[in-house]
Amino acid sequence: MMNMKQRILRQTSLLLLAVATCLPTLAQQTVTTLTVDLAQSGKAISPDLFGIFFEDINYSANGGLYAELVQNRSFEYQITEQLAWNAMTAWELATRDGGRGSLAIATAVPVHPNNPHYVVIETQQPGAGVGLVNSGFDGIAVQAGEQYDFSMFARQLFTGNHWGGNGMLENPARFVVRLETKAGAVLGETTLNVSGRDWQRVAATITVTNSDSAARLAVLSLTKGGVALDEISLFPHKTFNNRANGLRTDLAQAIADLQPKFMRFPGGCLVHGHGLDNLYRWKDSIGPVAQRRGQANLWGYHQSLGLGYFEYFQFCEDIGAKPLPVVPAGVCCQNADNQGGTGQRGLPLDAMPAYIQDVLDLIEWANGSTNSTWGAKRAAAGHSESFHLQYLGVGNEDNITPVFEERFKMINDAVKAKHPEITVIGTVGPSPRGEDYDAGWKFVNEQHVDMVDEHYYEKPEWFLENLKRYDTYDRTKSQVYLGEYAAHEKDRANTLRTALAEAAYLTSLEGNGDVVRLASYAPLLAKQGHTQWRPDMIYFDNQNLTLSANYYVQQLFAQNQGDFYLPTPLAPATTNLAVSCVQDSKTADVILKLVNTGVEAQLVHVDLSGAKKLASKATKTVLAGEPTAMNAFGKTAIVVPQTSSLTVGESFHCGSPAHSLTVIRIKTR
Ligand code: AHR
Repeated sequence: MMNMKQRILRQTSLLLLAVATCLPTLAQQTVTTLTVDLAQSGKAISPDLFGIFFEDINYSANGGLYAELVQNRSFEYQITEQLAWNAMTAWELATRDGGRGSLAIATAVPVHPNNPHYVVIETQQPGAGVGLVNSGFDGIAVQAGEQYDFSMFARQLFTGNHWGGNGMLENPARFVVRLETKAGAVLGETTLNVSGRDWQRVAATITVTNSDSAARLAVLSLTKGGVALDEISLFPHKTFNNRANGLRTDLAQAIADLQPKFMRFPGGCLVHGHGLDNLYRWKDSIGPVAQRRGQANLWGYHQSLGLGYFEYFQFCEDIGAKPLPVVPAGVCCQNADNQGGTGQRGLPLDAMPAYIQDVLDLIEWANGSTNSTWGAKRAAAGHSESFHLQYLGVGNEDNITPVFEERFKMINDAVKAKHPEITVIGTVGPSPRGEDYDAGWKFVNEQHVDMVDEHYYEKPEWFLENLKRYDTYDRTKSQVYLGEYAAHEKDRANTLRTALAEAAYLTSLEGNGDVVRLASYAPLLAKQGHTQWRPDMIYFDNQNLTLSANYYVQQLFAQNQGDFYLPTPLAPATTNLAVSCVQDSKTADVILKLVNTGVEAQLVHVDLSGAKKLASKATKTVLAGEPTAMNAFGKTAIVVPQTSSLTVGESFHCGSPAHSLTVIRIKTR
């Protein structure tokens, strides 16, 4: 312990050091004192505060995180999804060196009723092959030396006598499967045989010799006659954590690197869908992939449901995030009418018991014993342990109408009656204020709903003006999940200014982490050329990704999350400087965050009294730059955190550059 004289001497010397090292800017620097009493244990806050929101928007899943490289693998694309689409979208006929034949779409004997369409190749003259080529999602990116896992369902149909042959099946039907350049140069290939009239899954691995950013997959029949094919699939052999039917490694790793404490899925508006027959039904998304019932994605494309509930829960487990599934509240999206749909509609009341049972089955599927009906299905999929589901969202941004309220109440009552251990999260509309917000809060308070999901996409200034928003929330009422938010600037996206407005706001969420239990930025992913909503956190194409300034803010907060909040009075109270101090009880580390949204650098004198033991060196990470700076896709990132070491003690100084977030992590044991 230092006495007062020593402390003054130390502060003076630190200040002189700061003067010596910061001469050019010192004239603009204000010295602010931040005092933290480490003798206090602080206020317990949510250990799950910073998580992620995932929705298949902007081709986030299909063509994105889900590693499938074949587009429209099940021949289920439809005109109702995009006007120019049909079952053959992304496919075309290929005839090679004297090959003659045709393609047709059939539905007579499907692999599974949920997957009704398949393609028929009629080969009159095989030549060097007759079949079809898939162009992937904007091409198929392949890497020299890497392996790719091909599979398809196939069956023989009819014989050579269709064109005057002898009536015998040419057995087996032989195929060559090839990855090739647009011009047809072979990058890697394999051969496969199919024998018999019953659907069978055949698979092989292709090793690629040359890299190509936009290759194509060719599946060519080498035998005369007819064959039916479906669920034609190609995955990189390497997926995240080597999971079958897995996720793209770089995107999954970028998400894992955020260290999110929870992951919301499957949305967003995707949850409640474009009409009642477009609700996201979790049961459609589990089981053998070829038997999943894909459907139109309300964001204007197709959802294969290949990245379904099992893959999602497994990913959560892989990255240490708690699952937070959201189910529809028995109503569809009110905005469906903007897209030629019906507006909000409720499931008929006589359909509600079965729907509620689906919701209860989800909990049993996630947590139930392997002796239970749905727990057994989880075990059969390869996961006998519980997934430890704790949070369940019901509804997304729904208009708070009598139709919604009636159905929400039925679901909430049934879940709480059977599973009081589950935290149910209700919804209060799409905005931080207004009719749905007010009606939603009134309703959840009447119903004593555990938690509510607030959403807002607002200007950076709004975030800075609302740092005290949750200070006055009633701690005896429903807790808050800030399920979707982002700072939006007109004509710009992902500037450092937006990221810092969010960072400042996150310090206030930490301060209110007793009532705000969860928060997730939205949306998470966006594919180049298919971005329907901006800003997002991570941008990608088939080969590369760019992490936004907003990503780094999320990462710095999630990686440096605490479970106790220590009050951080600033003297003098300083505008443009938001601060927080949390302690992580597992490591006992004390973590300070300083967010300077102003044009002037600040010098912060930190006074940490009451610590039993403080390390003399801390880790300091700074994210700083011009307020308009952003990480442009395909260019070297310019807004990237820089980490260094900082000499600390009970009393020390730290610079807070203009337009910056600084995170200081100090060991106390
Ligand atoms: O995050 C994008 C969309 O914004 C979500 O789908 C919806 O819930 C919100 O309106």
